[in-house]
Amino acid sequence: MNKAELLKKLPYDKITVAPSLLAADFSRLGEELKAVEDGGAEILHLDVMDGHFVPNISFGPPVIKALRKHSNLIFDTHLMITDPLRYLEAFAESGSDAITFHIECGSDPREVIKGIHRLGLAAGISLKPKTPASAIIPYLDQLDLILVMSVEPGFGGQSFMADMMPKTAEIRRAIQACGRPVHLQIDGGIDAKTVHTAAGAGAAMMVAGTAVFRHPKGAAEAIKLLREAKPAMDI
Ligand code: DX5
Ligand code: ZN
Repeated sequence: MNKAELLKKLPYDKITVAPSLLAADFSRLGEELKAVEDGGAEILHLDVMDGHFVPNISFGPPVIKALRKHSNLIFDTHLMITDPLRYLEAFAESGSDAITFHIECGSDPREVIKGIHRLGLAAGISLKPKTPASAIIPYLDQLDLILVMSVEPGFGGQSFMADMMPKTAEIRRAIQACGRPVHLQIDGGIDAKTVHTAAGAGAAMMVAGTAVFRHPKGAAEAIKLLREAKPAMDI
């Protein structure tokens, strides 16, 4: 089974943890990757920033390709870039298993979803804090995951925006109503405390950078703590 299929097989109603590599020590990426893999993460969240869609630049396909050889984790690539269609093939070739793009990127969402699926990958849409749930709900029937941003995209280490919870709950209700399995991810400021708030609003796939890679007791302990939350399915 390829890893895009594995992502679809992960439980939808339990916490899964996707450490965000952005918070890792970039001079020791191989070791950092091993720590989260040994620590029990199923997914690796890869934040790609182009300095245009967001005011920061991170890394691209060559780095992902280099990491691919050292890991069996599901690679979940979060594209914070304009014109994602142009780069889908490069990210697929680098070893991404899922690609999430932003509804605000300016491209036709149906085209981007189709392009991702055509490459055999899982497809996700993300929405920025100011974007309402109604912007992505029309695409629910074609998506494998939805990523709610609980910070403004662009930087790690920001504070969790609890006011994103009504929107998260609205998306959870829409997923339940549509009856298809869609992972509900949340990204930004997730730690051992805020994970309970996010899970209470229906998020189940937790993206966490700082809380995992900079935890004083290490990644395994951080992942264990995040898993203690219980996602609310009927809210
Ligand atoms: C922000 C990124 C996040 C970020 C999360 O633009 O999408 O994935 O790395 O970092 P923390 O968990 O530190 O808020
Ligand atoms: Zn991200």
